Amino acid sequence: MFRIIQISDTHISPIKAHFAGNWAPLAEWITEQKPDLVIHTGDVTIDGADSDTDLRHCAGLLGEMGVPFRAVPGNHDVGDSNHRHQPVNPKRIARWNRYFGTDRWFLDIEEWRLIGFDAMLVGSLLPEEAAQLAWLDETMTQAEGRRSAWFLHRPLFIEAPDEGDTDYWSIKPEPRRVLLELMRRHHVALVASGHLHMAHDFERDGTRYIWGPSAGFLGGPQIIPPMPGERRLGAVRYEFDGNAVRAAVVEVPGLTEYWIDDVANEVYPAHGDTRAANAR
Ligand SMILES: [Fe+2]
Ligand SMILES: [Fe+2]
Repeated sequence: MFRIIQISDTHISPIKAHFAGNWAPLAEWITEQKPDLVIHTGDVTIDGADSDTDLRHCAGLLGEMGVPFRAVPGNHDVGDSNHRHQPVNPKRIARWNRYFGTDRWFLDIEEWRLIGFDAMLVGSLLPEEAAQLAWLDETMTQAEGRRSAWFLHRPLFIEAPDEGDTDYWSIKPEPRRVLLELMRRHHVALVASGHLHMAHDFERDGTRYIWGPSAGFLGGPQIIPPMPGERRLGAVRYEFDGNAVRAAVVEVPGLTEYWIDDVANEVYPAHGDTRAANAR
């Protein structure tokens, strides 16, 4: 059996320490759980997209736990596709890679192939996006019968695979179609994401989708609009056993319910965008 803890959206910075108080209880709880692996599904930092300091600090925090970890970048770590002020680009990805090794990876455990990739590239039309897509296809083609589980920051969709553009919240319909086709072809069994600061666990067309909750902060409906799932903090515990997986969203004792609504202007002063569009 292989035990994984998924954490997400910690949004930590040594400069803006608004949510940093949640790191100590989170790290302590993770250490007690003795997982085989920790996977962080992005928005590790407050502003790694522009700050070496944030990335260095957060990679250090994860490393200090003494538990093997992998991470995929979020929009606050490497910028976002087509963002006006912080577009994802090779320079930002190189900065992430300097501290976290790589923005895509795979790992074989039990009868599974865990695959982490960079959701911020999706829809960017950068050459790196096409390279990642080819890699994803190849990585699953060569999985030798292993079941695939994806880990990425932004969810593929909110309510339905064929829904329209949900703006900031899920992957755009066009690249989503491409990813869904890839999932169908390779029978992807699990898709775990972050970004929404909501917890959710549901099945759709034979795939289990898990939205990992933030371990950093919550957002009220003014900032994070009503959607399925639960507005709560926490983590996700997985037990991969043979070709099966058990998973549950769990509480992390000692987390403080910070609300981004109270501090959005301090933490994410809008670059002329709306406050909501910058905060999560
Ligand atoms: Fe986030
Ligand atoms: Fe995000």
